[in-house]
Amino acid sequence: MELLIKNAKIVDWSQNFIGDVYINEGIICEMGKNLKKDCKIIDAEGLTLLPSFIDLHVHFREPGFTNKEDIESGSYAAAKGGYTMVNLMANTKPVCSSMDTINYVLNRAKEVGIIDVHQVSSITNNFDGKDISHLDRLDPSVKIISEDGNDVMDSKVMLEAMVKAKESGRIVMCHCEEHLLSNIDTRLSENTMTWRNIALAEFTGCAVHIAHVSTKESMEYIIEAKKKGINVTCEVAPHHIALVDNDYRVNPPIREKEDVEFLIKSIKDGWVDAIGTDHAPHTAEDKKNGSPGISGIETAFSVCYTKLVKEEKISFSKLSEIMSRNPAYIMGVKKGQIKIGYDADLVLVDTERKYEICSDTFKSKGKNTPFNGTKVYGAVVRTLKSGNTVFSEM
Ligand code: DOR
Repeated sequence: MELLIKNAKIVDWSQNFIGDVYINEGIICEMGKNLKKDCKIIDAEGLTLLPSFIDLHVHFREPGFTNKEDIESGSYAAAKGGYTMVNLMANTKPVCSSMDTINYVLNRAKEVGIIDVHQVSSITNNFDGKDISHLDRLDPSVKIISEDGNDVMDSKVMLEAMVKAKESGRIVMCHCEEHLLSNIDTRLSENTMTWRNIALAEFTGCAVHIAHVSTKESMEYIIEAKKKGINVTCEVAPHHIALVDNDYRVNPPIREKEDVEFLIKSIKDGWVDAIGTDHAPHTAEDKKNGSPGISGIETAFSVCYTKLVKEEKISFSKLSEIMSRNPAYIMGVKKGQIKIGYDADLVLVDTERKYEICSDTFKSKGKNTPFNGTKVYGAVVRTLKSGNTVFSEM
């Protein structure tokens, strides 16, 4: 299959120019101006072509909670949001602790065939907080382990898990939360565990990825760790940079102005590796009963484009770096850049289009969002996976 995308503003972490991209057999084969090919053409004049987005932090809820989301609805939601690769969390039922469950997810994602899926394994078996023997039975293709919202409370267990992860070249992804402190102070709870997990990363040399950093103090610890050369990366969620003093239930909570300003400054200064949506769909009833989380994969680009590029004026290339290039690098895949030889996983966006977010239009089963009615710039117009259209409103 050949495809020529013409007259697009081509943006990735390292470039920004108007030109054409020629795709053959799912791979970017030529780039330049005035390319001429005898094949299907998309005229993208007035639109921006980016590498599609990669989300390191996603809940698709299958198996177990398919009333909230399933791999099919989640895949369509991701494609609508401009994403073609997601890293799924393990808080399913059963918990993703065995290759049987992990392979079920991967096979289902392949059957749906819309986007690439990596399934995380839990750090402890079935989130029991103690047993890590299942880690020895994981296939090498499992690149990331995470305990999600449970974190691992026992520091010795976490230490041993990091030793194992280092030996097998895996990343330990940390939702930093000391549960004994959560009811006292959620900031202290996040900060304490961020600090502990960094200390364990330093001691073991294991690669650690800190999820949804939301406080100034946690980000300061991470910056300090990076300066010392500790093997730590981090992500920030769109809602933690776009909202302040808002009690919409999400974990970690929406923070204060000072935190938001510091997170944005840290993005500008190059300390933040990735935007992770923490896409957490829930039913209306579960939400009413207090389930924390935001269905965020369909609004992430517009929210980040509006908040960061339009208002705060980071470059469009910087946004592409944290939404595509760096997450691809962390996942170890040849994606996230518009470059000859790379996968033609791409997204066309209309940066001039202003629209009002309305969860009724979500492909996700989860309509839970604090952004309903918010006016944003930057609509995803078309998403391509290996050169094939997986979402289009064109
Ligand atoms: O708000 C959240 N919801 N934070 C998490 O860490 C988990 C997630 C969920 O699974 O619903």
